[in-house]
Amino acid sequence: MPEHTTPAPPTKAVSNGIAPPELDLPYPDRPEIITSNLLKLTELASDQRKRLIFKNLVTHLHQFISETGITTEEWMNTIQFLTRVGKTCTPIRQEFILLSDVLGASALVDALNHPAVGGTTESSVLGPFFTDDAPDLNAGDSIASEGSGEYLFVEGYVRSTSGNPIADALIETWETDSHGFYDTQKAIRDIPDCRGRLRTDKDGKYSYRAVVPVSYPIPADGPVGDLLQLMGRHNMRPNHLHLVIEAAGYHKLTTALYPEGDQFLASDAVFGVKKSLIVKFRDVNDEAEARRRGFPKGGSFKLLEFDIVLASKEEWSATQAQLQKQ
Ligand SMILES: [Fe+2]
Repeated sequence: MPEHTTPAPPTKAVSNGIAPPELDLPYPDRPEIITSNLLKLTELASDQRKRLIFKNLVTHLHQFISETGITTEEWMNTIQFLTRVGKTCTPIRQEFILLSDVLGASALVDALNHPAVGGTTESSVLGPFFTDDAPDLNAGDSIASEGSGEYLFVEGYVRSTSGNPIADALIETWETDSHGFYDTQKAIRDIPDCRGRLRTDKDGKYSYRAVVPVSYPIPADGPVGDLLQLMGRHNMRPNHLHLVIEAAGYHKLTTALYPEGDQFLASDAVFGVKKSLIVKFRDVNDEAEARRRGFPKGGSFKLLEFDIVLASKEEWSATQAQLQKQ
């Protein structure tokens, strides 16, 4: 993630060099003229896509302000809230992603950009806890340090839509420990825990040891937590395993798997759950099998079998072309 940078204080006032527009802009002495002038100004943006985005931003923002009759005090509170969101961000805490998540924006962008097609595995939100320092693991290795939760073994195949195995696909996975914390939320994080990177073998198979994730609260100690309180909403996510899968020639998939039975599946605070991503754990009460799979204390473990289907780049492009036409 990018480091914090604080801009140096300006040494002199500098114009951006853009000339006054040759547009009919009446003085904005009535509310509706402010909106109509700004809509005219959106036409100055350099390309059609930017013009469309700015026009809609202005239209809906101004509509929101007008229709709610928002007060000066409420607007100042909003600005102070957004300021707090920014100030809460650190190299390992992303409060703006959290805000996007609880407002359903992340899930909506994802759903519109990644429609389910051709039997591919559906996507889910990335969330704010991905880091790029997960250790590289071999098949069957554990992503979790011993004692961080109940044993779980995850395995399956990565395939194309026509069922062909995808070898050497890179899988990044991360999860909470049994206390509902990601490693980045701990006071001391010497090394990454409950996260790892592994590759599929020649048959497209992947496997790793993990721990059973638990449902967890998204951070309540910042401005997004305050927002949920104001809205009267809980801040819980159902338990899940995050997965990002990349393979040469295939579209990158960001998804998560949600074990069935969790009480927060339907009201996930960040709207990440899709029916096809709800999975079933199988109890394996077999001491020898637990040891064979590499669990140091043996005993029993839970087994999750899940196959992943990726869209090829061509299939992905064809879907995007169709979306553009709609
Ligand atoms: Fe998560």
